[in-house]
Amino acid sequence: MIVTATELFTQAYGKYALGAYNINNAEQTMGLFRGNIASSAPFIVQISRGARNYTDKRMLEGMIRAAEEIFPEAIFAVHIDHGDEETCYDAIDSGFYSSVMIDASNLPFEENIATTKRVVERAHEKGISVEAELGQLGGVEEDISVQEEHVHLTDPEEAVEFIDRTGCDSLACAIGTSHGAYKFSGSQSLHFEIIEGIRKLKPGFPLVMHGSSSVPQEEVERINAAGGQLKGAKGVDPKQYLAAAKLGVCKINIDTDGRLVWMRVHREYMKEHPDVFDFRPMGKVYMEEYSKFIASRNELLGSAGQLEAVRASLCR
Ligand code: G3H
Ligand code: 13P
Ligand code: ZN
Repeated sequence: MIVTATELFTQAYGKYALGAYNINNAEQTMGLFRGNIASSAPFIVQISRGARNYTDKRMLEGMIRAAEEIFPEAIFAVHIDHGDEETCYDAIDSGFYSSVMIDASNLPFEENIATTKRVVERAHEKGISVEAELGQLGGVEEDISVQEEHVHLTDPEEAVEFIDRTGCDSLACAIGTSHGAYKFSGSQSLHFEIIEGIRKLKPGFPLVMHGSSSVPQEEVERINAAGGQLKGAKGVDPKQYLAAAKLGVCKINIDTDGRLVWMRVHREYMKEHPDVFDFRPMGKVYMEEYSKFIASRNELLGSAGQLEAVRASLCR
């Protein structure tokens, strides 16, 4: 069942966070749905502009429709990740997405507000939730690359003005994470005081954490042992997920970790089976491993085991 992100956030706020996982292909989609069902978790499936251009947006939408049939017990939102205005309108008009992210965080404050407000008006006419972003994460997202010196953490007072003036339903804030596998060169420094600051000024308002992959060191070591060269890759301590959730972070975005699982499985399989030319056996291993990974993340997010409670609340 496809629901809006807001419907999921209403249940989760202050208790747990929804895992928001990116998909790009059929194996990822199968592993994702299996892992969420195995752990009885509601979730958010998200599609970036890069993913829409990888094969074709209709391919991904078709896979999600198929997954909805294959897993009728699943409860999830279908979300555009880091959308620009045009992509958001395309998704809103398609009638398929239940949630969009307008990411105008690279624009000056007033322009970010004006752009976000236009998307909110179009989305709300159709009952679609809107996530917006204020502040700048480090790393690369879509076609925008933010150098470390330009990372701009979210200011809680500005965040409240932004939320009030745009009418957005959730806000992605920059709290010291970045996208990709190289998040911290030294010790990890997440700025939870920013989340706390927003929560004090705007209790009950759902916040979103981007760049949340944990970059498990075991995955990195196995990838490197099988021929990879990921030196110094480092992520967020996943024990922080639930702490963030208790402070009002309702959505935690995880993409890079899924790519690491894919890379580890495929590199190891090819190293161990140099004579194999059928890609399906390793695809099967990957689906199984990705499913296990999703279930393990949902345990850490606190969303595992919440599926029936969410179903009951939606049927009320
Ligand atoms: O924020 C970025 C997400 O990890 C999506 O990455 O644009 O390479 O699909 P992508
Ligand atoms: P990671 O690169 O840490 O997985 O972040 C993903 C993300 O924020 C997608 O929007
Ligand atoms: Zn992101």
